[in-house]
Amino acid sequence: MITLPGLLDTEAIRKDFPILDRVLHDGKKLVYLDNAATSQTPRQVIDVLSEYYEQHNANVHRGVHVLAEEATALYEGARDKVAAFINAPSRNEVIFTKNASESLNLVANMLGWADEPYRVDSDTEVVITEMEHHSNIVPWQLLSQRTGAKLKWFGLTDDGRLDLSNIEEVITEKTKIVSFTLVSNIMGTVNPVEAIVRRAQDVGALVLIDASQAAPHMVLDVQALQADFVAFTGHKMCGPTGIGVLWGRQELLEDLPPFLGGGEMIETVSMHSSTYAPAPHKFEAGTPPIAQAVGLGAAVDYLSSIGMDKIAQHEHALTEYAVKRLLEVPDLRIIGPATAEDRGAAISFTLGDIHPHDVGQVLDEQGIAVRVGHHCARPVCLRYGIPATTRASFYLYSTPAEVDALVDGLEHVRNFFG
Ligand code: ALA
Repeated sequence: MITLPGLLDTEAIRKDFPILDRVLHDGKKLVYLDNAATSQTPRQVIDVLSEYYEQHNANVHRGVHVLAEEATALYEGARDKVAAFINAPSRNEVIFTKNASESLNLVANMLGWADEPYRVDSDTEVVITEMEHHSNIVPWQLLSQRTGAKLKWFGLTDDGRLDLSNIEEVITEKTKIVSFTLVSNIMGTVNPVEAIVRRAQDVGALVLIDASQAAPHMVLDVQALQADFVAFTGHKMCGPTGIGVLWGRQELLEDLPPFLGGGEMIETVSMHSSTYAPAPHKFEAGTPPIAQAVGLGAAVDYLSSIGMDKIAQHEHALTEYAVKRLLEVPDLRIIGPATAEDRGAAISFTLGDIHPHDVGQVLDEQGIAVRVGHHCARPVCLRYGIPATTRASFYLYSTPAEVDALVDGLEHVRNFFG
């Protein structure tokens, strides 16, 4: 068994994840390397979800009965946990959404409907990057089409990093918002937040950080990031699907308009007009994803009990090993940083002329789960002249033996396709 400095006790951790014991076709043991798409769920979270439905299920904020009060306390308790996890100055800055896409769309719509000084209109510019997930591209295209604002972006270097050489031309006095990913979902690149935030602040632009691939893997401190908004999702960080988070600075949340209207988000309603509840409720119209938020709270407890710094260390050691081993495979080209420095634990690659879908299928036959395709980041594939990639992505329970299984699996793919 290979041991690397910095690895977690995966033998113990894997016992928390029943699904990792699954045996697939032909008796092949599951090797789950699709964590950037969705992480697995520990028993501790599954138990909290079951207990919620078995003991406490009710609607929140409305009822006077015991279950409604318990559900409300659990839902609002999850908000406290998430606020502490990201070092938010106030729990009222944590908005629950259904996923990171909704969080990003929410900001785009807040700005589209806002008054000055936040309003995005035809005299203004919006800045993104070429390595964004579609969820951080399409909402801004929609906003630009609707308002006439100009959409600009940072390009990529050949080694999968942001090209910030023209930062002063891209982010200008006209820029209203800069929205970028902290960690690329397709290439794993970790972006230089400080340089971008500094320039945005110099011109008075707001900053939105997509932390979907960061929150599960590293210490996320929204105060240290100095952004205005941070978005992420629960299902990539040991939580359930159907729950996302938007963190925003309190004074912005007070000033900006809601996007969805409905129950829960109001103060008073007449047939002529309505007034809104304070944030975060102003942005949570309708019955929220209650059980999912409670599950996310349990996931945050679970990750914190292990330690985000230790998880980051584990993934760094494993990524270093994986990059080294993958580069030993003939004809394998890493798309993105071919190093363990300033990168996360998602590694995309191509294998000679073999189509990634074929690679994925032959790996699946061996019980190895990876993702293939453009990973909802098609502009990255266009930039590097490839139709798609195969992506292996690791998490706190991933092991060097699974990296070896992937490398052996790729040898098998190469033999299979001659
Ligand atoms: N955003 C997810 C991924 O990168 C779905 O796979």
